Amino acid sequence: PRRAVAVRAEGGVNPEIRKAEEKVVDSVVVAELSKPVTAYCRCWRSGTFPLCDGSHMKHNKATGDNVGPLLLKK
Ligand code: FES
Repeated sequence: PRRAVAVRAEGGVNPEIRKAEEKVVDSVVVAELSKPVTAYCRCWRSGTFPLCDGSHMKHNKATGDNVGPLLLKK
């Protein structure tokens, strides 16, 4: 098995989410979405990753970045 990377390389985008995994992959069955709109995190700061919890707003304010969620609509 390949060794998990514990320290992020310079320039990485993921500061702390599931760092023991070689690659963070999530899948969604769109037909099973329960709400009309579901927001998925693209900033890698959400406490409910892969779902957006609004943490991108704090990140954007602190860094001047402009990231936001992916909205899946039924
Ligand atoms: Fe990451 Fe909203 S918390 S996009």
